[in-house]
Amino acid sequence: MIAVSELQARRAAFMKSMVAGSIAIFPASSEVIRSRDTHFSFRQDSDFFYLTGITEPDAVLVLAPDLETSEILFVLPKDAHEEVWHGRRLGTELAKVQSGVSACYDTSTLATQLPSLINGHSDLYVAFDQFPVFEQSLRSMLSELRNAPKRSKIAPDRLHDPRPQLHQQRLIKSPAEQAVMRHAAEISVAGHRRALGFVQPGVYEYQVAAELQHEFTMRGASGFAYESICGGGANACILHYTANTDVLADGDLILIDAGAEYAGYAGDITRTFPVNGKFTKPQREIYELVLASQAAAFEHLQPGSTIVKAQEACIEVLTAGLVKLGILSGTVREHIDKLSCRQFFIHGLSHWLGLDVHDVGLYQKGDKPVKLAAGMVLTVEPGLYFAPDDTRVPEQYRGIGVRIEDDLLINAQGHENLTAGVPKSIEGIEALMAQARRQQEHSHAAQR
Ligand code: GLY
Ligand code: MN
Ligand code: MN
Repeated sequence: MIAVSELQARRAAFMKSMVAGSIAIFPASSEVIRSRDTHFSFRQDSDFFYLTGITEPDAVLVLAPDLETSEILFVLPKDAHEEVWHGRRLGTELAKVQSGVSACYDTSTLATQLPSLINGHSDLYVAFDQFPVFEQSLRSMLSELRNAPKRSKIAPDRLHDPRPQLHQQRLIKSPAEQAVMRHAAEISVAGHRRALGFVQPGVYEYQVAAELQHEFTMRGASGFAYESICGGGANACILHYTANTDVLADGDLILIDAGAEYAGYAGDITRTFPVNGKFTKPQREIYELVLASQAAAFEHLQPGSTIVKAQEACIEVLTAGLVKLGILSGTVREHIDKLSCRQFFIHGLSHWLGLDVHDVGLYQKGDKPVKLAAGMVLTVEPGLYFAPDDTRVPEQYRGIGVRIEDDLLINAQGHENLTAGVPKSIEGIEALMAQARRQQEHSHAAQR
């Protein structure tokens, strides 16, 4: 878990970046209605969580380095009736201890306290457009200050976005965050291993999703880090296929893209494997190619390098393979230059990973790709997708979609693959599936 001292250091680092005479306001998420009077499962805003560790709705954090009390947190008040219906609340005392802020008040005092905290500051940091309801009340507080009689109050006249600075902070994961992410990855690995042992012809995609969720939550995850993708056959060619309604057919592949969210942090793994436990020749050819392209990308994932370099290496391997398999005709060089493989590799190679599955942080500074540094965590996820009706492609490859995705932590030595525990070699996958089959037959025999 993240220590209170680390939460304090995160806030101190942000405050150091603020311009003189400024105040920053960070609202928490609010509950979102799912149906009439029931809500979606609550998910805290990642920036607010990063700065406070608090997982309650409707809280507000105020940072003002020039005030004697520079960190002020507002949380929902203790309320016996509300808590009986909707769950325990921390209350100001516990919230103060858990977040390590210097002062904590009830949100019922926000309307009176926030204007006086803002008063006199020339610059205001708030993530505009992200919290429309809160923004409305903030706007009326600002106009109240602006219209105070005889200019007795001062409203900020400059607005800043806190996200660029905060998101650069979030891009480098501390040792404590790395430990939490390692655990999120371990749980995600366990779910995928369970799915590998479960899949067989005749089971439904939603049953595979249920197996993943079972393993994730049994191991302490709050659930999926994003809607899981369990696509059999050509469903693998739909990048964000989350319907998961179809039955898995003998002879098809299944693509599973699923990750657990643990203590706020995401895992993000994709594996593609045969429903019946044995790759066919065309499936094997495409699979080996995607795997080789991922290995080529790995070679470039180290401090000082860039995602662009890794993607170039990946594209070279994919292109050479597509020419060799007769999917592209012509020379490898010409197709590398034309990026022809992008017809079938239709998404990016990598994204940052952290509190958000597509985590924050720049990919480019000006026209230069961001250099990798120790503490960054990113996915590496090459894929090839051949739609069933794509007549440009030899028939045996149509309807095949393959993606292989791992989570890498950049370290001084290069990188650590946090998700290496799910097999991805053809032998490794076939062996694990065969072993699971033997165990199932064994237990069925014992029950007879
Ligand atoms: N699971 C979403 C992604 O891989 O980016
Ligand atoms: Mn994914
Ligand atoms: Mn991903």
